[in-house]
Amino acid sequence: MEVERVQVIASVCAADGVMPPEFIRSEHEQPGITTYRGPAPEIPVIDLAGADQDRLTIAVAEASREWGIFQLLNHGIPREVIRELQRVGKEFFELPQEEKEMYAMECKPGSSEGYGTKLQRELEGKKAWVDFFFHYVSPPARVNHAIWPKNPADYRKANEEYAKHLVGLVDKMLMTLSRGLGLEEHVLKEALGGDGLELRLKINYYPPCPRPDLALGVVAHTDMCALTFLLPNLVPGLQVFKDEHWIDVNFIPNAVIVHIGDQIEILSNGTYKSVLHRTTVNKEKVRMSWPVFCAPPGEMVIGPLQQLVGDESPAKYKPKKYKDYAYCKLNKLPQ
Ligand code: SIN
Ligand code: FE2
Repeated sequence: MEVERVQVIASVCAADGVMPPEFIRSEHEQPGITTYRGPAPEIPVIDLAGADQDRLTIAVAEASREWGIFQLLNHGIPREVIRELQRVGKEFFELPQEEKEMYAMECKPGSSEGYGTKLQRELEGKKAWVDFFFHYVSPPARVNHAIWPKNPADYRKANEEYAKHLVGLVDKMLMTLSRGLGLEEHVLKEALGGDGLELRLKINYYPPCPRPDLALGVVAHTDMCALTFLLPNLVPGLQVFKDEHWIDVNFIPNAVIVHIGDQIEILSNGTYKSVLHRTTVNKEKVRMSWPVFCAPPGEMVIGPLQQLVGDESPAKYKPKKYKDYAYCKLNKLPQ
């Protein structure tokens, strides 16, 4: 099946300067109109170096309650590892189109891995200005190297190295979030399937866009997974919805951005908030980002932790298998 890639459309636009109408958002979504230009607060910044455990717990819990997003400094993932991950991802997207199409996920119905472009138009029939690549990076039993890019040659090495470091950081954040709920530190990880926790990398590729004031990269959403660890390149674009405004995230180079996703909101019975966010695009530059979605196995039932539910705090969410939650979310059905 032939799919129109945004990268290809963008190269035509770059030549003729015409913005294709299916990417023009309605006024209530256009970033040119809806981005808040007043003095806005910054998303919380949390430095892992030297922070004692209690302070770290308080900072992470507060950021997760108030914002559902924060950026981590001194997270322990070496710069070189991040640089390599980003280099090989960028080189993949710079390959000739025919070579990228060998990985097209649209050719493998039902697969959640490979090179892709969102097929269905969103609400109001508008399209997102982004192409992507998805593949699992952990646990080893979930990883299918056959779907990973073979070019550049060191793609696999760079991704394995990043995943190895990230797994440790995910554990650390889950322990900290558990403590922040007054629970033992193993509780959240166990509720998410323990070592069965699944990490899926997405590479977002947002080509230059002739009218970034009218288009969106990724439309407003909360992440359905438990946690997302995101590395953007240095082109701004991530926005979060805070206090009724869309505000720009000022990414600090070499930081890691952590999003609270729906499953952590549910497990915490609403104490931690899944953050509403979206992305904008750039007129001259390619924006890229590398989120890793951490999610329970599909068969795992996720509901409010029983330790957090009582007469004073009734359960706010129905327990549900993660795969059913994902199905409803993707098909815009009620949960
Ligand atoms: C996303 O939320 O899916 C993308 C985030 C980003 O590109 O910064
Ligand atoms: Fe997201």
